[in-house]
Amino acid sequence: MKILAIETSCDETGVAILECEGSFEGASFTILGNALYSQATLHAPYGGVYPNLAKREHQNNLAPLATEALKASGLLKSRTKDTPVNDSSLENIRDQTFKSNIEDFLASTEKPDIEFIAVTKGPGLEPALWTGINFAESLGRAWNIPVIGIDHMEGHIFSALLKKLSDSSFQLSGMQFPILAFLISGGHTEFVVMKEPFVYEHIGATRDDAIGEAFDKVARLLDLPYPGGPQIAEVASRSRARGEKNEISFPRPMAQDDTCDFSFSGLKTAVLYKLRDMDKIDEKVKEQIAEAFEDAARDVVIIKTKRALEATEPKILAVGGGVSANTEIKRALTALVDEDFSDIQLLFPDATLTGDNAIMIGVAGYLRHLSGTHTASNLSALGNLKLGE
Ligand code: KG4
Ligand code: ZN
Repeated sequence: MKILAIETSCDETGVAILECEGSFEGASFTILGNALYSQATLHAPYGGVYPNLAKREHQNNLAPLATEALKASGLLKSRTKDTPVNDSSLENIRDQTFKSNIEDFLASTEKPDIEFIAVTKGPGLEPALWTGINFAESLGRAWNIPVIGIDHMEGHIFSALLKKLSDSSFQLSGMQFPILAFLISGGHTEFVVMKEPFVYEHIGATRDDAIGEAFDKVARLLDLPYPGGPQIAEVASRSRARGEKNEISFPRPMAQDDTCDFSFSGLKTAVLYKLRDMDKIDEKVKEQIAEAFEDAARDVVIIKTKRALEATEPKILAVGGGVSANTEIKRALTALVDEDFSDIQLLFPDATLTGDNAIMIGVAGYLRHLSGTHTASNLSALGNLKLGE
């Protein structure tokens, strides 16, 4: 079955076409087309994602990306003559430019051979989420196919569970429950147990900033561009490579507390105070601060993951979200599992699926479709959606 997937929860606009086959265990996915546009450089001057800019960019980019993904998949059937678009397909679109973008797309594109559309319904920035939902529903109405709403975080979980078969194909295999998902991104830091497909228990989460947000904020303090995670990692690695003892150190917030919760805002403040107290911040000091911050973030991640693994005794630890790309965190989690939990399978997403993308939304969409547990039609953007709700 072929499906079209859309992701617009934050600052990546993604459209993917997937060929999906099989039942839950062993489900396989061929990426027929994947068009992804990152707005990161546009948001960089603001030091974070600026919601109205994200919305406008999604509005301008969705139609061209849908065309690109359909073309790559061989499913694009352009119409030679413009055909008028039924007004009811566009009834929810208030923005005139967005409306005419969709209208042009629908007028010049014949209904492709796809069974349904999967779109991110939350969590994320509501103006951004609405853009994807409105686009998906317009296409769904015009082509008379269902649109199902997907939890972005469920997408991140499945991206970690997929095994790569080739550059363009993935498979869900060796599923064993319970699965402990550790979701670390710009908006989330949480442990969730998947007891069986789509049944979730929340074990712990951040009480303030997300870990990726802390990386982004500290990067800003160090005058490094957004998104700050990869920047901090790069700058810290230079200090790490010197192999000298780092004189700078930051607290490990909530390390002693016996929950699986986190707090990152104090760590960011500690970096701020450290910078204020220093007379001179040269490149070397900057690198040491980045390293000390990354060490502190990594250490709490390890302490809390150990606690979560002991409390939930999962068969699989699946790490997902943008921060799962962090080399230092990845290395430390691998060492923790190798040393203390060698009977647990530790899974990270393939590099192509780590950040936000539409492929993971399509994967979750197909699996939800198989289970019949999806929500269809009249979707709403749910900025604070919690897994399982
Ligand atoms: O999952 P994601 O692409 O978007 C959200 O749903 O938030 O995650 C983005 C976050 C950003 O905060 C970014 O700075 C962080 O992931 N990130 C990293 C790394 N790569 C991306 N943080 C630390 N180290 C990295 N290598
Ligand atoms: Zn994400």
